[in-house]
Amino acid sequence: MTVLPGESQDDGLRVPIARGMDDRVILRMDEALRLLRDGDIEVVGRIVQASNATLFCSIEVDGISASCVYKPIAGERPLWDFPEGTLAGREVAAFLVSEATGWHIVPPTVYRDGPFGPGMCQLWIDVDETADILALARSQDPGLRRMAVFDAVVNNADRKGGHLLPTCGGHVYGVDHGVCFSVDDKLRTVLWQWRGRRLPDDVVPPLRQLDEDLADGGRLAEALDGLLTGEEVAVTRERVSRLLRTGVFPDPPDDWPAVPWPPI
Ligand SMILES: Nc1ncnc2c1ncn2[C@@H]1O[C@H](COP(=O)(O)OP(=O)(O)O)[C@@H](O)[C@H]1O
Ligand SMILES: [Mg+2]
Repeated sequence: MTVLPGESQDDGLRVPIARGMDDRVILRMDEALRLLRDGDIEVVGRIVQASNATLFCSIEVDGISASCVYKPIAGERPLWDFPEGTLAGREVAAFLVSEATGWHIVPPTVYRDGPFGPGMCQLWIDVDETADILALARSQDPGLRRMAVFDAVVNNADRKGGHLLPTCGGHVYGVDHGVCFSVDDKLRTVLWQWRGRRLPDDVVPPLRQLDEDLADGGRLAEALDGLLTGEEVAVTRERVSRLLRTGVFPDPPDDWPAVPWPPI
């Protein structure tokens, strides 16, 4: 079975579609999360261009199966600027923030135990193989523009071209959010085409909502507890407040490489 990205007919929500041998199943977000949480994981192979132990797996529960990515904490490459063993939690935190905006940028992602211990498990997204990633990364695509806002919120230190997953349905997912949520400004991205420009009006209400949800006792702040430190959550809220206050996309930093290497 293959997982295809798509849009459900009824509510316009972009959800993954699991295609069976002879039938198609549209998974709602809660079903996708249940599959990821409760499914049996079988490791199929390792993604070779990945820098961590990023495993391509199949996952199955109650006759529904899909492909997924499983990144065990045990396979995380130590980094000088992020505490060891925290990348999987950051990936799940990025998914929760993405869902809180309603932009569905990050594919469904959960924190769970797996064949190599605890880690993150994320639904595999089949990409549009004909898409030109370089052209997309430089484009004015409105979904990508929301992703640039999302990256400013989560302080993404690694938004490269290979982390953009354009689907045949026209949606662009983003993956690999292990190096997000630092308390220091570390935005490193290929999406600088909106730097210094005014934020589009449609991102303001979701940012206001994020501001509320990230307050002490807010529902997102509660959900992030255990995935991020209290300080990381508080500083995420500060970044949201800064975006709302200035009303513009951030400019590249002077003291930090602004574009990831390699950029793809
Ligand atoms: N959920 C996903 N769906 C489809 N492809 C994915 C997914 N997650 C990762 N990939 C692919 O695998 C590559 C490596 O994954 P990534 O998350 O970047 O691993 P690493 O943390 O090791 O760099 C990505 O560049 C992308 O092409
Ligand atoms: Mg990567």
